[in-house]
Amino acid sequence: MKILSIETSCDETAISLVEAKGKIDSPSFSVLGNALFSQIDLHQQYGGVFPTLAKREHAKNLPPILEKVLTEAKSFKTAKNIYSEELWNEIEEILKKEEGLYPNFRALLEPVEKPEIDVIAVTLGPGLEPALWVGISFAIALGKLWNIPVIPVNHMEGHIFSVLTNDNKKKIGFPALALLISGGHTELVKIEKLGSYKLIGKTVDDAVGEAFDKSARLLGLPYPGGPEIGKLAEIAREKNLPHNAKLPRPMLHSHDLNFSFSGLKTAVLYYLRDHFDYLTENPKELSQDEKADLAREIEDAITEVLEIKTKKALENSDFKTLIVAGGVIGSPRLRNVFQNFETIYPDLSVKIPEKGLNTDNSIMIACAGYIRVLLDSEILTYPQQIRAKGNLELE
Ligand code: KG4
Ligand code: ZN
Repeated sequence: MKILSIETSCDETAISLVEAKGKIDSPSFSVLGNALFSQIDLHQQYGGVFPTLAKREHAKNLPPILEKVLTEAKSFKTAKNIYSEELWNEIEEILKKEEGLYPNFRALLEPVEKPEIDVIAVTLGPGLEPALWVGISFAIALGKLWNIPVIPVNHMEGHIFSVLTNDNKKKIGFPALALLISGGHTELVKIEKLGSYKLIGKTVDDAVGEAFDKSARLLGLPYPGGPEIGKLAEIAREKNLPHNAKLPRPMLHSHDLNFSFSGLKTAVLYYLRDHFDYLTENPKELSQDEKADLAREIEDAITEVLEIKTKKALENSDFKTLIVAGGVIGSPRLRNVFQNFETIYPDLSVKIPEKGLNTDNSIMIACAGYIRVLLDSEILTYPQQIRAKGNLELE
């Protein structure tokens, strides 16, 4: 089955054409075409993602990204006058809220043959609603033009299934535990079987990626902060710098599986205020070593909380697989810590997405879309009203 997948939930515009094969316990995927445009540079000046800007950029970038993907997949063949004016009117209506998208959509696709695609999978949520809508409208317009079914995909299910492109020798065993760590989410999810989820822990305030990003901002580091903190922390370890900075490990010993990270950035702020006159007229400049020491402490505090809570969750049930997914698992330190769980728990297999698939992408949306089709092939035929859901939860 050939799946065209579209992801626009945040600041990445991504499209892939993926060929999916195999049964539900051994799916396999080959990427025929893939393109991703990150808006990080644009949002950097705001220290985070600015929703209306993200929406406008998605609308601008989707047609050229689609062209790149179809060209890479050798599915971009010219044709003449194959679509009626009536059909174009319907498509204009579908795209009317997405500034500038219709003329570019038409210019790109009017002279092109319908490619060999069986289904279009698009991110429904969670995410920024204005951004989600662009991808959804684009997917519906493509489905209309080419007469192909469009199915909605939960972005978090996408993160979970981002591990399906790993080598398939190790299947996901059930029950599985997923630790989802991104800029918007920090969740522990029990997966009884494919498609059946129970949230057993989550952040009560900031997500872990937010804690990295906000702390990094206080240190004057660019967005996204996670990788910047990680690089500095590594310098502190290599130089074996003294541990001067001390930060709390929020909710480490609470009896539940919830997290809290907003106190961490406040603790960073207080540390800077108390030791470097931050918030006064003459704040002291931190040396590179002082920055590295604080970055290491931030990373250690986050790592310890994630590690201990995940261990606690593993005591809950006879979990066979641990999946750790989401942007934050790009951290080499966290990857090491969780990979090492296979030594601590010999019966547990640990799955972490391949490099590049931990942050938002559309390949994971194709993987999750395929699983949805395998779970219920009728989703390809029943008519659906796809509406963006910013707060969509796993269920
Ligand atoms: O999953 P993602 O790409 O987007 C969301 O759905 O939120 O996650 C983005 C988050 C950002 O907060 C970023 O700082 C963090 O992932 N991140 C990292 C690393 N790469 C991205 N955090 C720590 N280490 C990394 N290497
Ligand atoms: Zn994400």
